[in-house]
Amino acid sequence: MKPYSKRMEAVPASKIRKIFNMVLEDKDIISFAVGEPDFDTPSNIVKAAVDKLEHGATRYGANVGLLELREAAAKKFSEERGLALTTENVMITAGAMQGIYMTMQAILEEGDEIIIGSPYFSNYAAQAAMCGAKLVTVDLSEENGFILTPQLLESAITPKTKMVLLNSPSNPLGSVIDKQTLSELAEVIKKYDLYVISDEVYRDFIYDDDVKPYSIGAFEGMAERTITIDSFSKSYAMTGWRIGIVCANEELIRLMTKMQEGMVACVNTALQYGALEALTGPQDDKKHMISVYKKRRDLLCSGINNIDGLSCRVPQGAFYLFVNIKDTGLSSEEFAVRLIKEAKVAVIPGDGFGSAGEGYVRLSYVISEDDIKKALIRIEKFVKDLKAG
Ligand SMILES: Cc1ncc(COP(=O)(O)O)c(C=O)c1O
Repeated sequence: MKPYSKRMEAVPASKIRKIFNMVLEDKDIISFAVGEPDFDTPSNIVKAAVDKLEHGATRYGANVGLLELREAAAKKFSEERGLALTTENVMITAGAMQGIYMTMQAILEEGDEIIIGSPYFSNYAAQAAMCGAKLVTVDLSEENGFILTPQLLESAITPKTKMVLLNSPSNPLGSVIDKQTLSELAEVIKKYDLYVISDEVYRDFIYDDDVKPYSIGAFEGMAERTITIDSFSKSYAMTGWRIGIVCANEELIRLMTKMQEGMVACVNTALQYGALEALTGPQDDKKHMISVYKKRRDLLCSGINNIDGLSCRVPQGAFYLFVNIKDTGLSSEEFAVRLIKEAKVAVIPGDGFGSAGEGYVRLSYVISEDDIKKALIRIEKFVKDLKAG
């Protein structure tokens, strides 16, 4: 037989699967592995979708997405993020993931380069590879707060650079890019005539009054070149619904709408009504979930920093802790595999998010405070035993 697509064969496989598979084997494992809310979708959202299903919303919808949902998103994102959007700037996709992939497909040619700070959400690498584009990583440092600086960005730009990918708040780092840095990044992006994908799926996950999420698309001269991505997955505990939002200039939305016809035609019709309820209905459940994550963050972060041999910065956003394990002398993978085998606690090796993640592990605080307390005891004993040799 003739060979399969070389491009697809070259798509990197997820390095974190190994840990997920180990978690499935043993119910006693306390898992910080998954990046998914442990809450159920709020009931008003479920009800809105079920009502629509029972009343005929069972057919194909528009390629670009449900009109009312696009209108609501344009209004909300304009008010909250200063993005000046009309309905024509908004498209509904199957999760943020499809939105990012379609954006790359719509903009990038074979060999074009995308710059991203590393460590990064590993699916970006697969998406770039599927487009035939090259992901150029810039190592971020803990001392710098794991933030992409304008100097770092500029040093990575080549004549082939076409796009920058920002993810603030970040998975796996929990870092949030401040307003000043963002405005300087915008200047570099304009200077070199680049596009920027701003992945804002964790925008609601901010825990301190002195930290604010900013959208780079709101800075002067950035609207045309910014593609803002959001999702219902994290903010409303809707990962399985697969609904995301892309905000971009009208021309790009037109191009992507055309692509959608050939991909999946449209996002699930009835579930988009649930998403509409999520955006326009009461926000109390979301607020409650964020307050629970904040308590977990504080508990886990102080617990980790109290363990001799481990340390972490207080993450400003998302629901991840990026823990420095260098003092243990183990590689990230050794640490994660031994921790799961010897202490029954699952974490993700940092190098699963790019080589700059070596020396770290990621913990998602999407488990109960009781489990966090139990896990901290196990981790402390594990590290103590390691040190004792
Ligand atoms: C940074 C980041 N972007 C995008 C996604 C994908 O979100 P969705 O479920 O909307 O596809 C994730 C999911 O973990 C993520 O961490």
